[in-house]
Amino acid sequence: MTIDAAPFLRIEGVSKTFGTFQAVRDVSLTITKGEIFALLGGSGCGKTTLLRMLAGFEEPSAGRIFLDGQDMTGVPPWERPVHMMFQSYALFPHMTVEKNIGYGLKHEAMTAAQRADRIRAMLDLVQLAPYAQRKPHQISGGQRQRVALARALARQPKLLLLDEPLAALDKKLREQTQFELMSIQERTGVTFIVVTHDQEEAMTLADRIAVMDRGEVQQIGPPAEVYEHPTTRFVANFLGSITQFDATVTAINGARTRLSVPAFGAEVEAGTLLGLERGETLTLGLRPEKVLLHSERPEGPNVIAGEVKDLAYFGKDSLYRVILPGGGLMSVHAVNARRAGEARPDWNDRVWLSFDPASAILLRG
Ligand SMILES: Nc1ncnc2c1ncn2[C@@H]1O[C@H](COP(=O)(O)OP(=O)(O)OP(=O)(O)O)[C@@H](O)[C@H]1O
Ligand SMILES: [Mg+2]
Repeated sequence: MTIDAAPFLRIEGVSKTFGTFQAVRDVSLTITKGEIFALLGGSGCGKTTLLRMLAGFEEPSAGRIFLDGQDMTGVPPWERPVHMMFQSYALFPHMTVEKNIGYGLKHEAMTAAQRADRIRAMLDLVQLAPYAQRKPHQISGGQRQRVALARALARQPKLLLLDEPLAALDKKLREQTQFELMSIQERTGVTFIVVTHDQEEAMTLADRIAVMDRGEVQQIGPPAEVYEHPTTRFVANFLGSITQFDATVTAINGARTRLSVPAFGAEVEAGTLLGLERGETLTLGLRPEKVLLHSERPEGPNVIAGEVKDLAYFGKDSLYRVILPGGGLMSVHAVNARRAGEARPDWNDRVWLSFDPASAILLRG
């Protein structure tokens, strides 16, 4: 993908209040040209409201939006080089695929031949040329989604806002369509902002993710950074699963921190945070796949004794819940790399857990 480093979209301190309710709070972010940016968050956190302000359907109560250097304040939706594909991308049921795609071009200053060319290019882009004459009810859900996308791209927006574009599709089709969406984005170079409440979808699609909670952006970064280094408890919980423990800093040694964790009945080592101090209390988070399960006590730091309380066997992997010495449970996601017939820790077995200091997530507050 080609990403131009100059900010293409700049959102500066944007808020939106409906009556006394603040739906979007002081959001600031920049998006570069050609990027796929995901807005991720639970229902009601303000994702659609933020998109509607970008598209010009709502005016911000405070803050400003700049697109390609131009202040969008007071610019009506039809004068913005932005297209919004709504949460329910209603196609016209009585129109063919081709007519649906061409609908947005009706008011464009172009000849009939130019319009036909554009529609053909869009049909090719989403690989629906053989279906041009069908009506929406004569094609599949995934194909309907592609018609909506082609319709949105037909006017060649600079910025495409997609509100839950894949929500209507079942899981398998969603996964396939995610890749199609990425490939179409790459071929057109249009900047995409995709709204989703599905963390896997955001991680698959996006170059960067903004995680939102109650109108606020909690963290922005590439998927791996937001997943591996969440900065708030909300983000840590929202992206993947995590077990959290109270911890107290007992020593700091350069980039390593020693923590006393009552649940572990032992001290462990972790990375560090800026300005961390001895005696500070914080939360230690561990993702289930970062914790290793052993039948024999392993070498190395961060070894914790435990006993298997629950286990769910999924074939290629298993999820364990292990009782810890100081009470509490650790979730462990173990890949079944053992050969068939080889013993696997079972219910009530004594086991050992370990984790790499670099895998520990430290969260303040
Ligand atoms: N026109 C409006 N008047 C009053 N409240 C509104 C209005 N539009 C949205 N809200 C409220 O603002 C909050 C954010 O709504 P928004 O539609 O942006 O959420 P969302 O993140 O898109 O959620 P979902 O994932 O369910 O689509 C919600 O609590 C909603 O009820
Ligand atoms: Mg919404």
